Amino acid sequence: MKILVTGGTGYIGSHTVIELQNKGYEVVIVDALFNSRIETLDAIEKISGVRPEFESFDLSDQRLTDDFFARHNDISGIIHFAAHKAVGESVNQPIKYYRNNLDSLMNIIECMSKYRISNLVFSSSCTVYGQPDAEHLPVSEKAPIKKAESPYGNTKQIAEEIISESIAAYPGLRAIALRYFNPVGAHDSAMIGELPLGVPNNLMPYITQTGYGIRECLKVYGNDYQTPDGTPIRDYIHIMDLAKAHVVAVERMINEKMKNDFEIFNLGTGTGYSVLDVIRSFEKVSGVKLNYEIVGRRAGDIEKVWADPTYSNNELGWKAERGLDEMTLSAWKWEKAYRGITSMDESTTSAK
Ligand code: UFG
Repeated sequence: MKILVTGGTGYIGSHTVIELQNKGYEVVIVDALFNSRIETLDAIEKISGVRPEFESFDLSDQRLTDDFFARHNDISGIIHFAAHKAVGESVNQPIKYYRNNLDSLMNIIECMSKYRISNLVFSSSCTVYGQPDAEHLPVSEKAPIKKAESPYGNTKQIAEEIISESIAAYPGLRAIALRYFNPVGAHDSAMIGELPLGVPNNLMPYITQTGYGIRECLKVYGNDYQTPDGTPIRDYIHIMDLAKAHVVAVERMINEKMKNDFEIFNLGTGTGYSVLDVIRSFEKVSGVKLNYEIVGRRAGDIEKVWADPTYSNNELGWKAERGLDEMTLSAWKWEKAYRGITSMDESTTSAK
């Protein structure tokens, strides 16, 4: 069976492609390489023994998207990762986010309807919950959707609405939205992992790059939150646990196990860790003393959010299995492996 993975050379996409191929699925990747590298295909091939089919174009281009689907009439399901995802950038360039993230989704749905493809797995985010009220923590799928904190977050909310309304309108279409908490870590082979272009926005790559000496000092954004150590709490989830959940979701659709045509699942561990917890875990597993300083809060940060994964665990028969130390260790192994083998200089990796 052939699965289209959009954004398949990106962070979550590449790990998912490997899991799909390991399970015997044929994969075709579409990725415009806006925030990922073509070399990832080589790593996927080395790890899984299979080089996925690959096309590079922008899915927000309606003509190119239609042309792709016209040539691929054998797709059983789509996992749609391709999207811009930098929260801060979305505040400064909202139209870039709405155009890319929503046009690509609408083009895909239109083509699904036209070419009679039923199954869509959509990359959503716990950002749709905003800061849940105390009575909604841990946050389940039933918690209210809060007004988005950023255009990026809004694209995820609107995308879920577009999917829901399209399912009501186009017979045969069905979807699963997966609301990710904070994905971190890397593949066990340390041959693929998270490699943001430029200065990382997210905590884990900033930690590993600082540990490696590429960054001077990690800024911890605030220690005056209402949490045990004052730093914000998140539900960090190992990328391999997350990747496996996508295979489960695809199989649920293909095997006609869905309870209704649009299902939503939280993907988290159910355990929240503070920023300082993550730093301590990194120091423990790496033996590296991390240079960090506490600075002021980052605008738009949520104080605490972690998942209630009960519904996913029960319905999908999936459970995140890897703990925080395993996450930080795999992220560290990947950072070292990548820096060790790459001959790219700082300007090509944009790591400044
Ligand atoms: N943090 C620091 N220093 C840094 C980077 C992050 O202290 O250099 C802190 C943040 O303040 C936050 C925690 O680390 O408390 C996690 O921050 P991340 O940027 O790693 O992750 P976020 O929870 O802010 O955002 C992530 C994704 C978004 C997504 C959001 C909710 O990056 O795409 O989760 O789903 F929208």
